[in-house]
Amino acid sequence: MKKVVLSALFLAALSINAKAEDFPEDIKPLMTKYTCTACHKVDTRLVGPAYTDVAKKKYTNEKIVELIANPKPSNWPGYPPMAAMKNVPKEDAIKIATWINSLRKKK
Ligand code: HEC
Repeated sequence: MKKVVLSALFLAALSINAKAEDFPEDIKPLMTKYTCTACHKVDTRLVGPAYTDVAKKKYTNEKIVELIANPKPSNWPGYPPMAAMKNVPKEDAIKIATWINSLRKKK
């Protein structure tokens, strides 16, 4: 009996975790530092598209880096234009880009 309750709790905890849509530990500090979190979530639309939807566009990592500095609002009809985030250094942008693309491979 106790075992059943425990595994139910474990499963509940797992699904809460999945719903939190949280950024992985190595990406979260970058997302908050550059305020990306104000407009983007991992897999839900906020002000901007979900990163899982960006991943579906199959950009190269380099292309994503370019789009962070010079967004192309025409790629996302129905969304407000994103401000150019030229303050993100290339080495951080490439980490973000690599992670965004990893969202596509996982699914
Ligand atoms: C003020 C809100 C806002 C902030 C802050 C913001 N974005 Fe965006 N982002 C958007 C919107 C809106 C779009 C869709 C329209 C567009 O591309 O202009 C978008 C689109 C994107 C795209 C897709 C580009 C394309 O052309 O397909 C990427 C990648 C992206 N954002 C990454 C980031 C990253 C990384 C940060 C933080 C450095 C960030 N965004 C910060 C609102 C924001």
